[in-house]
Amino acid sequence: MQRILITGGAGFIGSHLTRLFVNKYPGYKIVNLDALTYAGNLNNLQDIKDAANYTFVKGDITDMALLQQLFEQHQFTGVLHCAAESHVDRSITDPLAFVRTNVLGTATLLQVAKESWKGDYSNKVFYHISTDEVYGSLGETGFFYENTAYDPRSPYSASKASSDHFVRAFYHTYHLPVKISNCSNNYGPFHFPEKLIPLSINNIINNKPLPIYGKGENVRDWLFVEDHARAIDLIYHKGRIGETYNIGGHNEWTNIDLIRELCRQMDIKLGKPEGTSEQLITYVKDRAGHDLRYAIDATKLKDELGWLPSLQFEEGLGKTIDWYLDNRGWLEDVVNGHYKEYYAEQYEK
Ligand code: NAD
Ligand code: TYD
Repeated sequence: MQRILITGGAGFIGSHLTRLFVNKYPGYKIVNLDALTYAGNLNNLQDIKDAANYTFVKGDITDMALLQQLFEQHQFTGVLHCAAESHVDRSITDPLAFVRTNVLGTATLLQVAKESWKGDYSNKVFYHISTDEVYGSLGETGFFYENTAYDPRSPYSASKASSDHFVRAFYHTYHLPVKISNCSNNYGPFHFPEKLIPLSINNIINNKPLPIYGKGENVRDWLFVEDHARAIDLIYHKGRIGETYNIGGHNEWTNIDLIRELCRQMDIKLGKPEGTSEQLITYVKDRAGHDLRYAIDATKLKDELGWLPSLQFEEGLGKTIDWYLDNRGWLEDVVNGHYKEYYAEQYEK
């Protein structure tokens, strides 16, 4: 029987991954360890919270004693490591929080897995979930491949790059059975409204300005979050030990084009005249060190494991907007409290 520790399962991607594993594998035991930072939210997991194969533990991945106790208690056969500080703008304001969780937390988890598994690595997997941002910034052409040299440029991406290096170091030095995936920008339900898409949906609902950094010409490669979770499932079970897989949807949008498409769809869904929401677009000061373009080549994942994204972007965006409109209670809970202070500090100073 598989016993899997998911870290950060109360966050955006972690909650989709936890839901997928709990529902798809009733015979597995899933333990979700999450510190419930501002980004962690148990409302993301309401539908599975009472499942027989699921346990939630509130705790921090830098807490070595807690990790040792959990490994001892549950005898994990696998780790799906999602917990992280994940927002670039916050990493610019507070880089050390990113070093603490992303670097120290990952190294602590690796060390405890190594000590607990004691060299018995048969049927064990330590899966580290990472980002395409470790590869740096592309010009107008080209893609990130699995062997693209790391060139992180924000404190967030530097901390994720560092954590990836530690994971590979534990593979090469101790033969810990690791897998890594580097994914492009995700979007979908339960996305915290500090990131571009949910922030803009929330602002359109509330008739507030849509802040576009710089000229809106930066390009991101967007993937529906459930497609990411499906790819992780596939790699976890069938990917090769010691390998890295890039995950992405060949779906590049400039920020301004994306926001225009979002405005167009929201006007229709909210019954507003065409062009209403676009009037909220406001160009603001650019992000420091703003990476120009990310674009993933996911050929390896397609060729080796047959993974392809399931949704066209316009359709995925439509599903995402519908979810936010149908779940305004979730959004209101999230934007009350500390979110207001963050928003004022980031956008209204
Ligand atoms: P998120 O910020 O929504 O969630 C992070 C979760 O980790 C939260 O539940 C939080 O409470 C928890 N957490 C934070 N610090 C912790 C700590 N010290 N101990 C225990 N739990 C802690 O992030 P996300 O967008 O779901 O990203 C998940 C992972 O996927 C991250 O590793 C991120 O780098 C990676 N990733 C994200 C994207 C994206 O577009 N969001 C793309 C590629 C990769
Ligand atoms: P974001 O969602 O923060 O993801 P990442 O920085 O990890 O790619 O931002 C996506 C893009 O949108 C990025 O180019 C920055 C830009 N952006 C804005 O223009 N305005 C905003 O308010 C935010 C949050 C992001």
